[in-house]
Amino acid sequence: MHTRLLHNDPQGLATAAAMLRAGGLVAFGTETVYGLGADAGNDTAVAAIYTAKGRPGINPLISHFASADAAFEQVEATPLARRLADRFWPGPLTMVLPRGTHCGISTIATAGLPTAAVRVPAGQTTQALLAACGFPVVAPSANPSGRVSPSDAQHVLAGLDGRIDAVLDCGPCRVGVESTIIDLSRDVPVLLRPGGITLEALEAACGMKLALPAGSNDARPTAPGQLSSHYAPGLPVRLDARSVTPDEALLAFGPPLPGSALVWNLSATGDLHEAAARLFAGLRFLDMEGHRRGLVGIAVQPVPGHGLGRAIRDRLIRAACPRP
Ligand code: TXA
Ligand code: MG
Repeated sequence: MHTRLLHNDPQGLATAAAMLRAGGLVAFGTETVYGLGADAGNDTAVAAIYTAKGRPGINPLISHFASADAAFEQVEATPLARRLADRFWPGPLTMVLPRGTHCGISTIATAGLPTAAVRVPAGQTTQALLAACGFPVVAPSANPSGRVSPSDAQHVLAGLDGRIDAVLDCGPCRVGVESTIIDLSRDVPVLLRPGGITLEALEAACGMKLALPAGSNDARPTAPGQLSSHYAPGLPVRLDARSVTPDEALLAFGPPLPGSALVWNLSATGDLHEAAARLFAGLRFLDMEGHRRGLVGIAVQPVPGHGLGRAIRDRLIRAACPRP
């Protein structure tokens, strides 16, 4: 299959929407990462996403909508869900809610669960694409399953060229880590995945502390459907490095440690927003260039665990997990 690179102009948008409507797979940029889109109501198209990514069928997908009203036609919204939608949509928050009686989302996309994950992404192009489609679009991150997520169009092509119909070039992603996922289908809200909306902001909006999934802690995060090894570069990743050797690449945060000739600084000033936006590009760069230079691994300087740092640490911990 030839993968087309579509430009961010009216013609590119119209082509992307037409391809999705016809059951094609089109990657597009959101404010978080690039997603691999398909018509959420089309079983064949949804199944093709799992094949293209090599994704286990038990791992459900997020449906993307142009508006909260459109999302809440598919799921049963609670008062808290409506409040969070008012506060954070469009934006990097995903809510897991019971499927509605007239839910048109493919049961393949929800992996047979009684719930569905929904979100309204931000970004002019993303919004325009979803509006042009007029149907929900499922979109997992546009990378082969288990690999580092893509934050620009070239990252998507590096992993999926020849396996999908097109990539709509929306430029680099502003946030850089995936959406925060909150499960609102149980008695108490549960944080399933830290992401672009901080836990602090979410708890403030909810007016309560959020439950974290049972068994989760900073060393061993868990989220349903997420394998612990994820975001995995080829080179081994060593966390919380206090020193670095010349045969290692360095993912720095703040003033870089001395000792490595190959450095990607997430943020020289220690800014967590900048660090999130530069995370996946940095992992990709150090992996590729480190491999070319025959280095043995990637050392990562400590990143604080508050605010966006929680999502950054979560991704780094998974990147460092032993591969299955
Ligand atoms: O920022 C994002 O969320 C990006 C962009 C493209 O929107 N998407 C994304 O999708 O990160 P993906 O497939 O890489 O991650 C989706 C996560 C998975 O961990 C999946 O298990 C969880 O959402 N999920 C989806 N539906 C669920 C459900 N009904 N219950 C629990 N978890 C669910
Ligand atoms: Mg993903």
